[in-house]
Amino acid sequence: MAGISGRAATTALILLVPLPLGLRCFPSHTYIPPISQEMSSTVALSALLAAAAALSGANAQSSSTSVAPLAAQTYAYADLPYQVEPYGGERGNQVGYNKCNSTTENQDSLCQTLIANAIDDFCLWSSPKENETIGDTEAYEVAWCSKKGHGARAMPDGTLQGVSVIRTPDYVMYAGFLDQVQVNLAADDYGGELDPHGADLMGNPMGGMVYSNQYPKGNTDNNTLTQVVEWKQFIGGNQFCLMICDPSKTDANNVGLCENRYDEVGISYNCPNSAQKGKYEVCDGDSMSPIGQYVSNGVTTTWTQPWSGSWTVPYTATVPSSSNCRTFASTDLYTAGVKPTVSASGSAAGATATGTGSKGSKAGSSAGASATGSGSDASGASHVVVSGFATVLGLAAALAFLA
Ligand SMILES: *[C@@H]1O[C@H](CO)[C@@H](O)[C@H](O)[C@H]1NC(C)=O
Ligand SMILES: *[C@@H]1O[C@H](CO)[C@@H](O)[C@H](O)[C@H]1NC(C)=O
Ligand SMILES: *[C@@H]1O[C@H](CO)[C@@H](O)[C@H](O)[C@H]1NC(C)=O
Repeated sequence: MAGISGRAATTALILLVPLPLGLRCFPSHTYIPPISQEMSSTVALSALLAAAAALSGANAQSSSTSVAPLAAQTYAYADLPYQVEPYGGERGNQVGYNKCNSTTENQDSLCQTLIANAIDDFCLWSSPKENETIGDTEAYEVAWCSKKGHGARAMPDGTLQGVSVIRTPDYVMYAGFLDQVQVNLAADDYGGELDPHGADLMGNPMGGMVYSNQYPKGNTDNNTLTQVVEWKQFIGGNQFCLMICDPSKTDANNVGLCENRYDEVGISYNCPNSAQKGKYEVCDGDSMSPIGQYVSNGVTTTWTQPWSGSWTVPYTATVPSSSNCRTFASTDLYTAGVKPTVSASGSAAGATATGTGSKGSKAGSSAGASATGSGSDASGASHVVVSGFATVLGLAAALAFLA
């Protein structure tokens, strides 16, 4: 993180440099954090550095550090180094580590290797520090796991409050509800999106690696973990979604389902699902349509999230059909046995939760009251309006999950 003076300097630069120019320098997989001024400033600085490098003809190899894009790094789980990104890029070194084992398994763990195996055995990225926002901590999120054995932190009892796992031909998606203060998020944080790319291609979190025993497809040995290269996670507003895309499918469409350029439109578009509070189920399902793609008057059209200006989403996301659902009780699934150390987030634990935040009450109420999950679109997708300018200045945090 930049120091105070550095932050002030980058803020000043933002005001001087027309942002769209900088943004054009980003590669296609670019994450623009929608959340805080601090992180926006950091990324804007990255844009400026990238622009400067492009203008001068410099490249990363010519500096003293050589930063390999996170998504280009492949390791067998057993061969993971202490850190996959010890290089020190624009945002500094990876904060945690990837080699996670019984000595690193505690509630202070900085394990940055996430496992997503099954409804009773998956982790989510969240903050290592209490009462934080995703916007402030996205560079150094750590793994919080529903089950012990991965060298990471355990989600305290009662963290997960409804989980839908959908296994599709192209991805496995974990979506649902949680008491996010149990994983160190501020009660009113509407969160954001994490993925293995980011403006500097080092990922958010930097160095975050993901593995699953669900791949290669048909694998029956629960102890065999395969790296998942393309994934995305949304967390905030007491909801989450983690999508892991089949690593054997490298075509543009499959990579596209783990698309991370639609960060502003939230879970219902990025992870259409029908998760419900208090319900824990695993289903087979069809893959979602690529985000942004919709049919209007019989014509398939692709909408792209703009980087600036005011806009509305021209379509409503639909939840793909699912079948073969098996339902579980939460007490059958979550047995890590770590007691909560912070009190529950507002009234979110109750069936009639109305959300926990003071800002973005729309997202809060849709999360709890309807109990139809983040996939329901009662909030009216076509009314989402995002101001790119506000996003850049970090004023649009509450918009991230409006959809
Ligand atoms: C356990 O993980 C830690 C942190 O990555 C590492 O320093 C240590 O060498 C590991 N222990 C074993 C036995 O691999
Ligand atoms: C969390 O942080 C906010 C803002 O810094 C503060 O107002 C609030 O009291 C904190 N909450 C807890 C539970 O520490
Ligand atoms: C593998 O994991 C699944 C899901 O957690 C579980 O139902 C199954 O019993 C496990 N298989 C073995 C052989 O342990």
